[in-house]
Amino acid sequence: MLLQHRCVRLSSQRRGSLVTRNGTDPDAVVRGWQDLERVLETGKPAFAEANGQTFFAYVASDQKRSEAMARYMKGINGPEGPRIASGFPFGRFGRLIDIGGGPGHILADILRAHPEVEGAVFELPRTAVLAQQFLREQGLAHRCEVFAGDFLEGVTPGYDAYFIKSTLHDWDDERSVQVLRNCRNAMVAQGRILVTEIVLEPGKPINHPHRFIDMEMMVSFGGKERTAEEFGALLHRAGLRLERIHSIEGSFFSIVEGSKA
Ligand SMILES: C[S@@+](CC[C@H](N)C(=O)[O-])C[C@H]1O[C@@H](n2cnc3c(N)ncnc32)[C@H](O)[C@@H]1O
Repeated sequence: MLLQHRCVRLSSQRRGSLVTRNGTDPDAVVRGWQDLERVLETGKPAFAEANGQTFFAYVASDQKRSEAMARYMKGINGPEGPRIASGFPFGRFGRLIDIGGGPGHILADILRAHPEVEGAVFELPRTAVLAQQFLREQGLAHRCEVFAGDFLEGVTPGYDAYFIKSTLHDWDDERSVQVLRNCRNAMVAQGRILVTEIVLEPGKPINHPHRFIDMEMMVSFGGKERTAEEFGALLHRAGLRLERIHSIEGSFFSIVEGSKA
């Protein structure tokens, strides 16, 4: 019941618009990096201190920033979408929800590759509107829904798969467990969590992007990239069991699959 109050299902009349220009203040992230020394000393992220609010509060409070962030996610993660969509048997699931799915670009690829799946995006309100518009433009509106809410409070219940990509790395362990627990409590009895992230392992080439991404997560968010053991520990704390880690051919992402413990 509580969740129904917190998750707003968007009506089809609400519209957003994507802009073609990056609307963020580029100095906002740089201001945090200027405090790298303190980050290394304290382990605390610098974005909030440097800009007066956390990164996602900063983005979510402004339409242009939300549009810019959505475009950025499409730009850096979009090329991975088709590989992820074809590299995992999403057809196992009747209904899949993409938690923190941005404008719905990865969900769109999954739905295109698996016509039997119905989908949803759960996002912050301004981004949810952008997702609704994007999915409509992709001709997929009849196969998906969009929900606006805060995944730290709760997520839309009743889906078979809770896909969450490049999102837990934005958060420290406490908050990550909170999000995972909310997904666990929302999923059907035989449901699955599909955490899609870079999984750190020894032997990655020196030019692999995870090193820089790990630093950026530390400086801006207090998050990090994680090993298989660290993902297993998060799942365990959230009442989930790690079933398997699937590598995705041709992608630097893996899918950490978990079920209710
Ligand atoms: C790094 S982006 C990843 C986007 C997408 N999953 C991808 O891989 O391209 C993290 C996403 O989480 C969303 N997000 C952040 N805090 C949130 C919250 N409290 N509730 C719901 N979504 C949130 C952001 O709006 C953003 O789209």
